[in-house]
Amino acid sequence: MICKRDIKQNPKFESLKIIGKSSLKGKVKISGAKNSALVLLAASLLTKEKVFLSNIPDLSDIRKMKNLLESIGVKITENINNREELIINAENLHCGNIPLYLVNELRASFFCIGPLLSRLGKASLALPGGCDIGKRPVDEHINGLEELGAVIDKKDGFIHAEIINDKERLKGTQIKLGCPSVGATETLIMAAALAEGETIISNAAREPEIQDLCEMLNKMGAKIIGAGDPNITIKGVHKLKGCSHKVIPDRIEAGTFLIAAAATLSSIAISPVIPSHLNSVINKLIESGSEVTIKGNTVFIETKKINGVNIETEPFPGFPTDLQAPFTVLMSKATGKSIIKEKIFENRMNHIEVLNKMGASIKLEDNTAIVNGVNELKSINSRGSDLRSTAALVIAALASENDCLIEGLEHLDRGYENFECKLKILGANIERNLTKNFSKESSKNKISLENIGEISAA
Ligand code: EPZ
Repeated sequence: MICKRDIKQNPKFESLKIIGKSSLKGKVKISGAKNSALVLLAASLLTKEKVFLSNIPDLSDIRKMKNLLESIGVKITENINNREELIINAENLHCGNIPLYLVNELRASFFCIGPLLSRLGKASLALPGGCDIGKRPVDEHINGLEELGAVIDKKDGFIHAEIINDKERLKGTQIKLGCPSVGATETLIMAAALAEGETIISNAAREPEIQDLCEMLNKMGAKIIGAGDPNITIKGVHKLKGCSHKVIPDRIEAGTFLIAAAATLSSIAISPVIPSHLNSVINKLIESGSEVTIKGNTVFIETKKINGVNIETEPFPGFPTDLQAPFTVLMSKATGKSIIKEKIFENRMNHIEVLNKMGASIKLEDNTAIVNGVNELKSINSRGSDLRSTAALVIAALASENDCLIEGLEHLDRGYENFECKLKILGANIERNLTKNFSKESSKNKISLENIGEISAA
């Protein structure tokens, strides 16, 4: 069975019916990385020449980013011979004003501020609000742009940035980030790429998606060294040219499937992956009792037992926050106790409440989950509230005794390409259907939102 790119009906009115106690086997294809593709699409604004971007995943967030870029004059076409390749032409980039509704729908739209400023000399965007996992401020982005010489005015929820100097270019400088923010590091790399002079970003984030961005920018003629280290040096150039670039595999999708296999005591293979992007996850899976082997760009996992292990989410190369919810599901079925500390986002434990309704035994103290493993979970009809916690609910259902319905697929479709189809290929008993009557029960088991999430974006 091939998972084809098909436009979902309306995920808000669809649900997954999952028959529990699924055992998985076989091999699953990992798609291109959402969190790389989004920033690479923004980086394509930095040149008037064509950028050929391949291995683009078919996700709602990607479709939203494409719409956003087209709304400011960018021409985007699909390669008719390879639908995973987009040709981006920003030659006629005409305005730096990104409509409020587009920013509200996709916080990654904020990545455009650096390129727009560098190309057009000014940019106006709505400030992205918080979302269900945290307040998600952008102070590091704004402070860094000001240090590069941008004049920033924040008014009525909008940010207006402008370059006001005779050279009409940002000016390279030394920037020390207050925290290793992935987005801020990416914004400032893109802004510095066309600045006059050298920029050094210290306390930079080291994520693979940043390394992928710098690799593409260097293909375009940028002069960036140190990607993946805490200090990145960017020597500004006058112009960037087009290029061809392939998006790296999605390490979070890969980790999600590895954890799903472990939670269902299965044996699967995932490919293509870049194993070094998964070290912290693979090490924790081995520590918890899975057998993991790596052959080239394929990772094999076989799980016969699950022991409780402790994790703390950290910036890369630490354990990724995006896999904390799925891993908590695994630990809820482990032998023994585990302590799970979420140290990146302040409100990313919303899945605990539903897991406890499913029979898990988890005590939550601030952002620390103390998990006493249980033998069985009993899945219930539920609704996810953000991308990764909805994936966690699917894993919990696959690992549970009985059948259930999961809603909130609009979150899942943001970050997992053909998730249910790939699980079906692995043998899961899972169906995606229109939800006939919006089940009252699942809305009762909606993952509760602690703070008001204005936008469900990541
Ligand atoms: C990126 O978000 C990812 N999103 C997130 O993935 C990921 O969880 C996160 O990095 C951490 O790895 C994309 O790449 C599109 P941050 P980003 O800036 O850039 C604080 C998913 O599920 N901070 O590294 O927004 C912030 O509050 C999503 O795919 C500031 O204080 O993350 C948070 O506590 C979720 N000021 C911490 O840093 C700032 O200016 C990490 O945020 C920026 C961030």
